[in-house]
Amino acid sequence: MTDSITISPPDDWHLHLRDGPMLETVVGHSASQFTRAMVMPNLVPPATQCQQLLDYRQRILAALPDDSQFNPIMALYLTDQLDEAEISEAASNPHIGAVKLYPAGATTNSDAGIGDLQAIYPILEWMEKHDLPLLVHGEVTDPEIDIFDRETVFLERHLQPIVDTFTNLRVVLEHITTAHGIAFVEQARSGVGGTLTAHHLLLNRNHMLVGGIQPHHYCLPVLKRESHRQALIAAATSGNPRFFAGTDSAPHPKSEKESACGCAGIYTAPIAVELYTEVFDNANSLNRLEGFLSHHGADFYRLPRNPGEITLQRNPCPVEREFGQDEQRVVPLRAGGWCQWQILSRTN
Ligand code: NCD
Ligand code: ZN
Repeated sequence: MTDSITISPPDDWHLHLRDGPMLETVVGHSASQFTRAMVMPNLVPPATQCQQLLDYRQRILAALPDDSQFNPIMALYLTDQLDEAEISEAASNPHIGAVKLYPAGATTNSDAGIGDLQAIYPILEWMEKHDLPLLVHGEVTDPEIDIFDRETVFLERHLQPIVDTFTNLRVVLEHITTAHGIAFVEQARSGVGGTLTAHHLLLNRNHMLVGGIQPHHYCLPVLKRESHRQALIAAATSGNPRFFAGTDSAPHPKSEKESACGCAGIYTAPIAVELYTEVFDNANSLNRLEGFLSHHGADFYRLPRNPGEITLQRNPCPVEREFGQDEQRVVPLRAGGWCQWQILSRTN
């Protein structure tokens, strides 16, 4: 049995940091785990312009611990108002890495997202031309479609046509939750990748619904049945470079999670690397952890792999019950429980 593992420092290719006091509460957790992160723009109001994103990035840097080397790479919020000048500016700025597509109404703070996907085809063409990757929240919002089928339907209705039409556009299917999403990415043309969260690799829908409703296990896309989780694990641990880590760590105030209408998002940032390591350990695939956590995403985004190394050891550690103060209190996954692995050291 392997009891410790050393790999290049990992990156988080899908992260929500929020703003203001919540940003202050959470950013140090990601910085202690990851070297870089793709930061999502679903603020209120959303960050739809490069300048808004760069201002937000400055607030993130200001909220970091003094000695932190954490490098936030920003994703621009796609609206039908985006013009080519903005895309060209984003593509040429090293602090901006992608554009994020939210179908309107699909998830938290997505009201300003896209209603008619056909209407953004000219924008996708500019992105293809300027080589700016498209990150996709892959769920339909059609009220006729069962919530457990929304990812699968999105692939057929919307993502396949996009991938077929813009053959040079790099596309990431974010937070894949189904065997269909995995198969889509595996079979797609080159330039198509997918992120996987720690929570979708660890939990199925029973964890949300059995023995009483578990609001801290509610996220979007919603947890699926066990067979889908097994497909995600197989993909993550396969060594296929199309798959890489994106935590989708999404903090919400405790009061808004534990509510009659609880909001979607699971907070994993404080223990994300430990959780992914546990998944790979359980699948006897620790030899593939480094590719998934530290290489595949950097290679997809054509960025250098991180220098330095991080060492984890097998050592059960308790998880805090909550972080932050008052209205900003946030409950992490595994609150009051245990992690099987611990970060021992990290160098840059
Ligand atoms: C995210 C959030 O809270 O911003 N929520 C979630 O359940 N994943 C939005 C998202 O990525 O869908
Ligand atoms: Zn997200």
